[in-house]
This record gives sequence, C-alpha cells and structure tokens, in this order.
Amino acid sequence: ASTLGAAAAQSGRYFGTAVAASRLGDSTYSTIAGREFNMITAENEMKPDTTEPSRGNFNFSSGDQIYNWATQRGLKVRGHTLAWHSQQPSWWGGISGGTLRQAMIDHINGVMGHYKGKLAAWDVVNEAFNEDGSRRNSNLQATGNDWIEVAFRTARNADPSVKLCYNDYNIENWSYGKTQGVYRMIQDFKSRGVPIDCVGLQTHFTGGSSLPGNFQTTLSSFAALGVDVALTEVDVTNSSTSQYAGLTQACINVPRCIGITVWGVRDSDSWRSNESPLLFDGGGNKKAAYNSVLNVLNSV
Ligand code: G3I
Repeated sequence: ASTLGAAAAQSGRYFGTAVAASRLGDSTYSTIAGREFNMITAENEMKPDTTEPSRGNFNFSSGDQIYNWATQRGLKVRGHTLAWHSQQPSWWGGISGGTLRQAMIDHINGVMGHYKGKLAAWDVVNEAFNEDGSRRNSNLQATGNDWIEVAFRTARNADPSVKLCYNDYNIENWSYGKTQGVYRMIQDFKSRGVPIDCVGLQTHFTGGSSLPGNFQTTLSSFAALGVDVALTEVDVTNSSTSQYAGLTQACINVPRCIGITVWGVRDSDSWRSNESPLLFDGGGNKKAAYNSVLNVLNSV
C-alpha cells in the first residue's frame, strides 16, 4: 500500500495523526492529513478548557470542525481528553473537593453526550501518574484517589459504544516506575470490573537509536491484562529511522496493538518543531522516517 493508513489497514490497524483546526485551511497540510491517515485526534480542540469554558456552557465549534473534516473524508476520530491536570478551564481552578468532582462528572457527561456514538475511543484520563509510579498531585487527585475510576464509570454510562482509554507518556519502558504504576492500576481496574478498554502510550521519544527497554514487552504486558494498546502521540527527536521502524514493528508484533498516531503532520506543525520529530518536513515532503514506517507496515 502507498499510504500509511492503507498500509496499516492491511493488518487491521489504523495510522493516525493529530490535527489542529487552525491549520485545516492550509491545503498542503490538509491534503497530506486526508491522504495518509485514517484516524484523527484533535490536538487541543476537545480538551476541557476549549469544550467547557464556563460551567455548563459547552463549546464544540472547533472540535466539531475537526470531527466534520475527518468524517467527510471517511476518517475515524479519537477523543482527547476529558480529565487532565493541564488545559483545564480556568473555573476548575476556583473549585475543589466534591464541587470539582461533580464538575468533572458533568464535563464527561456533557462532552461525551455531544459525541455519543461518533468516536472510536476517548482518552478519558490523561497523565495522572508521577515518574515513580505514584499518583500525580493535582486538583483532581485531591478530590480523592478514586477520581480515575469515577471518570471511567461515568464515561461508560455516557457512551457505552466508545472505547475508553487511559493515556500517558513515559510508560514505554517496561522497567520504569511509571509504567509499573499504570500497569498496577489497569490490573486493579480489570480485577474489580472498573470499565476500561485501552491504554494509550503517548510515545514521545528522544534521541538514540534504540527503543526504551523492552518496549514490546510493555505493549504485550498491558494487552495481557485484557485491554487494547495504541501508540497515541508518536514523535521522535530527529525522526530516528530505526526508532520509528522499531516502534512500528513492536506494534505490529502485538495483536492487541490496534494503531499508531503521530502527533502532527509536518515538523513545522509539531509542539517540538525544533526537534524535527515527524514524518513530513516543513515543506510537506516525506522524510526517510516515513519510508521506514511504511516499509514495516507493508511487510506484514
Ligand atoms: O490558543 C492559543 C492562541 O490563542 C494563542 O495565540 C497561542 C499563542 O502561543 O497560544 C494558543 O494556545 C496554545 C495551544 O497549544 C494551541 O496552539 C497553548 O499556548 C499551548 O500551550 C498549547 O500547547 C499544546 C499542549 O498540548 C498544551 O499542553 C500543544 O499544542 C499540544 O500538542 C500538546 O499536546 C499534548 C497532549 O495533549 C498530551 N500529551 C503531551 C502533548 C504534548 O505536550
């Protein structure tokens, strides 16, 4: 196959990208995004600060712009994200305890209600762990240690049709404390029947030629708990071809690794734009890393 999306589809997987609504009018950008990818994540437009700028006042204009752009092209959409310590609406900063807990529940119901039946997955909770595997301090954590499971239970009720994911970074190395902390939470959720369907490994890689230790073991270990795994925000410093090929191969090797999403189209679109981390250069040309990924996807 000659595009990333079609190549990934040969093994039943998807290949996606993050998209920014403000760039959709750039024809180079939208042409590449619409041609190469078959899963779309809103880079910022479905986050709480954008979707609920004041209490009970929801704004889906930019999120819908991305959703409509994608679905008009037959592309699927992942929702990102509902409960996170960052990019919160400012009014969440003025409440705490039971009031904030209820606001989180209402937010999940409001946003998921709007997109009910329309999305492939939601990153219900994002980045809730510290590097050592303990829970990250945040206003949400301060509402009680059960805030994550409350978010997932609320989400399942709000839209039973969508896959519910926990998403985080630095959970790629199997020996790392944070990976183990998240693993234990997923294990606990599965054992107690807390609804969760998938783990998103952001996969923001830095430098070097090899992958974080036992990356594939991390994918297969999460999968063995009974969840799907996905690489949700891939970018690699200087687009190391060996790391790009390696992370793609690791996903291909794990049956429950359902897809890969890169965090932007061209290097110039990236939040790490000075690190040339993506598959297309600033001019929209395919980089060597693009070919390394396509070759792995086509080798199945
Ligand atoms: O909306 C304002 C705009 O009005 C203003 O003109 C402009 C000036 O710089 O800033 C705009 O907001 C920026 C926003 O991106 C939209 O471009 C914010 O300052 C900036 O902080 C924000 O950065 C985003 C970042 O999340 C914030 O946490 C990045 O685009 C986005 O790529 C990044 O994505 C996160 C994932 O959601 C979670 N995992 C890590 C990943 C990378 O940080």
